Amino acid sequence: MALFCNFTIFQKPFVPSCSSQKTQFSNTPQNTNQDTIFKIKGPATLSGHVTISGSKNSSLALLAATLCCSGSSLLHNVPNISDIQAMASILSSLGAKVESFDGKMMINSDGVGKVEVDSEEMKKIRGGFFVIGPLLARFGEVVVALPGGCDIGKRPVDLHLRGLRALGSVVELRQVQDGKVWAHAANGKGLVGGRFQLDYPSVGATATLMMAASMADGITVLLNVAKVMIEGISTDVFVPDYWALIKGAGTDTLVIWGKSLYGSECVIRPDRIEASTFMIAAAITRSCISMSPVIPSSVSCLIDKLSEAGCKISQLDQHILRVSAVPAYVGDDLKSFGIKTSPFPGFPTDLQPQIMALLTTCNGSSLVEESVFDNRMTHARELQKLSARIQVSKSSAVVFGKDEGSSLCGSPVTARDLRGGASLILAGLAAKGTTVILKIEHIERGYEKIDTKLQILGADIERLTPLPVLL
Ligand code: EPZ
Repeated sequence: MALFCNFTIFQKPFVPSCSSQKTQFSNTPQNTNQDTIFKIKGPATLSGHVTISGSKNSSLALLAATLCCSGSSLLHNVPNISDIQAMASILSSLGAKVESFDGKMMINSDGVGKVEVDSEEMKKIRGGFFVIGPLLARFGEVVVALPGGCDIGKRPVDLHLRGLRALGSVVELRQVQDGKVWAHAANGKGLVGGRFQLDYPSVGATATLMMAASMADGITVLLNVAKVMIEGISTDVFVPDYWALIKGAGTDTLVIWGKSLYGSECVIRPDRIEASTFMIAAAITRSCISMSPVIPSSVSCLIDKLSEAGCKISQLDQHILRVSAVPAYVGDDLKSFGIKTSPFPGFPTDLQPQIMALLTTCNGSSLVEESVFDNRMTHARELQKLSARIQVSKSSAVVFGKDEGSSLCGSPVTARDLRGGASLILAGLAAKGTTVILKIEHIERGYEKIDTKLQILGADIERLTPLPVLL
């Protein structure tokens, strides 16, 4: 039985086998350029089974964590998406050997010698900033550009930096000068164990500080950490004596013993946000589909909400879920419900846009409140172009259902960020007529072959790259 893991720093050396065909890392996962669009004909009815890819956010943290290890690490079930390419490029630019083959990635960071991270790649993703922890701990100094990622509100890194200061480093945020962070170990050598309480259970800061602390000299106590730390660092860790390293995984307090760590092998957990997006696809199209692998506990919030709306959700096997929203009788339909996003185990902010799209097709009106990011409502404007009736004020929105003025109709819309883009695909599947989605590179950052997977479920979705106009 494959054991999924999220974040494992290993103590047993891993010996890579040379069988499989390895390739140095290629670039774009699919033939996507700035002009590529999705064209969707709706309303769709979906059926069949969809396979869920490995988790984007877990992969990003695990890739950064390979910098903590000597020797090779082999990651299985790595999604082929552009964010992972950007992270692989960051590791390669530092001197790590990165190979990918058959959905696996082999990383050996023994050759890493640089402590300044390539800014261009860093600006593409948020997860790249995680490398500040391992590099500072390993080399006693680091220069990292401030990260990019989805434009969904203020995304400071103060908790990352204050935590690193608590582990004995001097950190300078040169926001104005060059938008970079300069940090070095106060003792000129490395980090030392310490105690730090996060003001907010930041996922990213928890990841950075866990990696830094696992290489620091001594014991570190981190309080008010993100329980989900990287998409569910629950108990599925498969290196038995790993526990000796970190106590409290999955709770809000971590005790970490710094040690020298070796690369090893691990299977990345299925992406719960991708699985959830397909669960909502079944609901918004009033269809019945199944999906795997899914860890039911990682999507329990959504299961509760969709059940409340009237969906039937069944677990067919340990990691197989079926979602049905097929009306039981004429006139039967989904009811509205409210959500308020919050840190795990609360309702995921990464599902808020997709849920907003669904609520425009339910009966009744609903309140959607976003409490994690302060500017994550831009998708509402695009959904309004599809004739959704939504009233936004700051970080909350009243969504009017199909009996209160929303009636989705196809139209050209623009993806403004990853999950907002996903909500437009879902709305396009339910809308009458043709929806054209621009700027799909946002969506490709986090969804592997979403158009192909939807086609397999029976959706009429095309990826089109307009031919250059020959003047
Ligand atoms: C991670 O972002 C995910 N990204 C996000 O997923 C996800 O939305 C978010 O966690 C929350 O679950 C990755 O893992 C790469 P945070 P991150 O630090 O680490 C404040 C997706 O769609 N904060 O938990 O940036 C911050 O402003 C992406 O896959 C500080 O104030 O999230 C925000 O309001 C989008 N200071 C809140 O915490 C800090 O130093 C949550 O941020 C750090 C964060």
